[in-house]
Amino acid sequence: MGAGAMIVHTDKPIKYHLAEDTIDERDVDALAAWLKGYPRLTKGPLTPEFEAAWSAWLGAEHSVFCNSGSSANLLMYYAMLRSGRLRNMKVVVPSVGWVTSVAPAMQLGFTPLMCEADPDTYGLDLDHLERLLKEHDPALVLMVQVLGVPHKMDELMKLKERFGFTLLEDACAAAGAAYKGRKVGTFGELASFSAYFGHQFSTIEGGLVSTSDAALHELLLMHRSHGWSKDLSPGAHEALVKKHGIDDFHTPFVFYEAGFNLRATDLQAFIGLGQVKKMDWIASRRRENHALFAQRLAGKLDFQRPPEGSTVCSISFGALAKDGAQRRRIVAALAANGIETRIFSAGNLGLHPFWTERYGPASFPMADRIHHCGFFLPNNPSLKPADVDFICGVVTGAL
Ligand SMILES: Cc1ncc(COP(=O)(O)O)c(C=O)c1O
Repeated sequence: MGAGAMIVHTDKPIKYHLAEDTIDERDVDALAAWLKGYPRLTKGPLTPEFEAAWSAWLGAEHSVFCNSGSSANLLMYYAMLRSGRLRNMKVVVPSVGWVTSVAPAMQLGFTPLMCEADPDTYGLDLDHLERLLKEHDPALVLMVQVLGVPHKMDELMKLKERFGFTLLEDACAAAGAAYKGRKVGTFGELASFSAYFGHQFSTIEGGLVSTSDAALHELLLMHRSHGWSKDLSPGAHEALVKKHGIDDFHTPFVFYEAGFNLRATDLQAFIGLGQVKKMDWIASRRRENHALFAQRLAGKLDFQRPPEGSTVCSISFGALAKDGAQRRRIVAALAANGIETRIFSAGNLGLHPFWTERYGPASFPMADRIHHCGFFLPNNPSLKPADVDFICGVVTGAL
């Protein structure tokens, strides 16, 4: 969950890391063998191959591979901005998520409306969301699938239908989770994923935007690479050349959109192809561990309650202490036992200077509780039931 794990200072050797690499020795050996073929390393033929493999695994029509989950979020907002479909520049943003779930809205001139966190899933609070929808009629809503626990998607999609907003789904920390058999990242018009080290899967750094909307897909492809048409289908490319009357010599280097360069590389795509193959195994391990944590800590601590029909796939097990003092005791006990921990995501994004300096503090009862009482426990595929028991023993011993 963003930029490495936060370690509480201890001289104890770390036994349980929050983030573990899903790129294992076999992956590295395969990569070394591929490199011995002296292939092209920058974005090339493996990138669309990886994108197709990801789309097939996810159940989406199209995916665009880029250099991070943050860039994937930026590409989502920008594609909607350039789509000509938005009736206004208002967007509902979450209080629980990552800074780059919100930052592109501020960078691109949207008016962000911050929403309280749901008491069960920590996603967008549906009552507050409905009030914001009634009061502001925003064209856009960005939701985060918090930490691999699906949100209440039936209720959210009903609000989407009633108020006619476009949904951006930030699933950067939720790949592998599903709601009533449908993978998260397939509910929004656009969805983002992070392949940063320590997430559900890794391409070292990396991100993907997935969609089943062909027109948005074309915008994403152009915005990822400077705004040119090189990655478009031949038909879409030809249509632009014809529309703008471009001569042959100029054709390869014409910019139709004010784009970025958010490309990843074929080296990362090679790794990604290996990761997709083991996604189901990774997801099953994380799901089993998560269920064990929930069983062991039930009634002792608060944590996310997935809606009926959910399949959870978390990168860490998030929990809430009853107050700041209890959290401090738990954190100290974890450190003393070589167990890494950190705050719950970024707590309440509405209390961070990037937000308060521009809009003042956005304080909400649930999001503030997550901010002041939340913490993470390791959940990696290598964790065994005995490890979960040990970690839970340390936690319950410090309540
Ligand atoms: C919800 C969420 N959105 C976006 C991101 C950004 O992803 P990246 O670190 O790949 O830029 C993260 C990272 O942890 C995240 O958890």
